[in-house]
Amino acid sequence: MMGVLNHLSTLLLLSLLPPALSHVVEKFSDVPQCKNFFMKGTTPNLPGILVDGTVQNQNRYKLICQKHKNIYRFATLYDTTKRIPVFSAYTFTGPPTDCRPKHQPWMIEPQLNGETNSPEMQKDSKEIEYQKQAGDNDYNNSIPIKGVNRGHLFPCSHAHDLDTQKSTFTLTNIVPQVVSFNGGSWREMEENVSIKLMTDCINNNGNTEAYVVTGAVPSKNNTLKNALNNRVNIPDLMWTAYCCYNNNLKQWVAQAHWGENQKEDNKTLPSNTLADLYDILNPNYPGGGVQVFPEQYPISLYPTTTTTTNPTTTTNPTTATTPTTTTNPTTNPTTTTNPTTATTPTTTTNPTTNPTTTTTTNPTTTPNPTTTPNSWKNYLEIILFIPRNLYNYMRNSFGRFFG
Ligand SMILES: *[C@@H]1O[C@H](CO)[C@@H](O)[C@H](O)[C@H]1NC(C)=O
Ligand SMILES: *[C@@H]1O[C@H](CO)[C@@H](O)[C@H](O)[C@H]1NC(C)=O
Ligand SMILES: *[C@@H]1O[C@H](CO)[C@@H](O)[C@H](O)[C@H]1NC(C)=O
Ligand SMILES: *[C@@H]1O[C@H](CO)[C@@H](O)[C@H](O)[C@H]1NC(C)=O
Repeated sequence: MMGVLNHLSTLLLLSLLPPALSHVVEKFSDVPQCKNFFMKGTTPNLPGILVDGTVQNQNRYKLICQKHKNIYRFATLYDTTKRIPVFSAYTFTGPPTDCRPKHQPWMIEPQLNGETNSPEMQKDSKEIEYQKQAGDNDYNNSIPIKGVNRGHLFPCSHAHDLDTQKSTFTLTNIVPQVVSFNGGSWREMEENVSIKLMTDCINNNGNTEAYVVTGAVPSKNNTLKNALNNRVNIPDLMWTAYCCYNNNLKQWVAQAHWGENQKEDNKTLPSNTLADLYDILNPNYPGGGVQVFPEQYPISLYPTTTTTTNPTTTTNPTTATTPTTTTNPTTNPTTTTNPTTATTPTTTTNPTTNPTTTTTTNPTTTPNPTTTPNSWKNYLEIILFIPRNLYNYMRNSFGRFFG
């Protein structure tokens, strides 16, 4: 009898628990599957918007764990005032196994319209003008009127399976993007990055795995002149950064790209360091201090094979011995103290010219680095590499005590 009562009370308790976590969340870390879209579960710091995982203006900015067919596909920070995403974050696990879905309907996020709505993204209703997000209506005739079309942040071409590809077609993942930019350098950069991820981002299990964050900087004037349908901000700039553990090199590597949302012709979007990206983004966020990935890992831009592994192993014993140990520092209280100290030294110690020289020379050599392991470029890289790693080492060693 007691047993039955116990069961009954358990059932009663269960029924009193809040319903399954919603889709629009207070913190990305509230949903483990959502947290996993970020390197070490650490979300970007964008002062004024998102700091240490906390949204600064909860009425305006919403965190969306993008759910489609009952699976979390990626994460988006959405600006309900400008009606465009601030960023989408996802893991790249390989190129699509299917073709780009045809006749895929555009979707919206129901919980931006009402907290109790479905936690799954839903087909856009052509009739409705949504208060807190863009709808398909807003993009009516966007090309003849504004010269923009729907630009993905998480591109369909970076989604591994068909359902995840489909999930990228939510308008909460879309910004009005200048047509020639969308179909030109941005698309080409996405392809280039995809190839790089497949060669440089093989984890310990031999699988492709990279963390990607792609964002947009809104235009300052959200007026009739530059807003789509007088409602949807047309951003000034789009940026993307990836970070991954390179099992060959036993270290984290990262690259960033960005481009102005402007009409273009044959533009290239060269690879840059995270520090360079932060320099571009900082002026757009009060006080600067932008950070896309946690800073305490030694992140290099252009790793080469054997030659660069030496300085790395010496500089960072923790990550070098067993890559899994990198999970230890996951508790990131230091990230809060780091950004200010971290960003400035990185820019000063890594003269911006260094990464760019390697950038322009390397892309062709990096896909098969084994062929040119001892070229002069590699020696040059070591020379450039040592100060940076020394700095990282100092920060890692002493930051731990002071942070
Ligand atoms: C967009 O087009 C649809 C039909 O194609 C129409 O019903 C709707 O009113 C249009 N919306 C705007 C904002 O022009
Ligand atoms: C915003 O509008 C003002 C006045 O119309 C103009 O001077 C300024 O250049 C605009 N800024 C941007 C970023 O478009
Ligand atoms: C753009 O690049 C293509 C191929 O690289 C070339 O054929 C074309 O002339 C270029 N256009 C301009 C305007 O430079
Ligand atoms: C993509 O990579 C190729 C080969 O490295 C390069 O020539 C091209 O400029 C890159 N595209 C962009 C848009 O940067």
